[in-house]
Amino acid sequence: MAPPPPSEQPDAAAPGAGAISRVLIVMAMEKEATPLVNKFKLVEAPASESILLRHQNELSKLYRLSAGVHSARFTTRFPKGAPWTRFYGCYKDLHLDLVMPGKDAVFGVDSVGTVSAALVTYASIQASKPDLIINAGTAGGFKAKGASIKDIFLASDVAFHDRRIPIPVFDMYGIGARKTFAAPNILKELNFKVGKLSTGDSLDMCSEDEEAILSNDATIKDMEGAAVAYVADMFSTPAIFVKAVTDIVDGDKPTAEEFLNNLISVTAALDVAVTKMVDFICGKRISDL
Ligand code: ADE
Repeated sequence: MAPPPPSEQPDAAAPGAGAISRVLIVMAMEKEATPLVNKFKLVEAPASESILLRHQNELSKLYRLSAGVHSARFTTRFPKGAPWTRFYGCYKDLHLDLVMPGKDAVFGVDSVGTVSAALVTYASIQASKPDLIINAGTAGGFKAKGASIKDIFLASDVAFHDRRIPIPVFDMYGIGARKTFAAPNILKELNFKVGKLSTGDSLDMCSEDEEAILSNDATIKDMEGAAVAYVADMFSTPAIFVKAVTDIVDGDKPTAEEFLNNLISVTAALDVAVTKMVDFICGKRISDL
């Protein structure tokens, strides 16, 4: 039988077959992402430029030099008008895309929260078919569960805490609890803490949320993780959740104030953690993580 045309050949045809080659980093806030963009020397894709063309140009250059094959798996574009931002580049053996939901068109602030996170994750998976997703960001931590400011957590599980649907089975759908991709070797090598992550669309926490977070057995709380996990699972893409603690939810400081006071210093710790993780991932297969 004739071999498939180059555009249909899987990336396994490239040298280092099986090694992770495309990593998608999903972040919510520009302040969290900027140090990583600089560290990895990523370049911003112009808003009007299609992700399709940019990827194809890079890959055709790379693969022409190496194996003489050219992958044309990129069939979707970021639609015109979406505020999503994408930074991209090659770091060691990896192709990195770092995406954010961008600024809200009306208020000009970062589009934090589950809706924007799910949208940009969906569009990015369609556009670049990553081997691995890293959702990196800040989180609130529960001191009763052992969290402290600047801790770096890898989430073992994710769930929602503000989707209350008190009807049998819909209740479980609302909570949406799922295990994340297990990465025991990352944990062993990088010494992060492990805990369950609970996601909701508020920075603060009403009593109903608190009850649900307790029932989710969560150590950390964010505004994107479970939404990213939902989309990643939908397309069978392994996803890792790395979260840095900016505020202690069960402490005595007001959450918003503590979050803002610690954002810059904790972001520095997050960026060190993500860099170590990306360094560890280089040259590895998914099954090595
Ligand atoms: N991100 C940082 N701190 C948070 C908190 N307390 N709740 C939700 N997301 C957060």
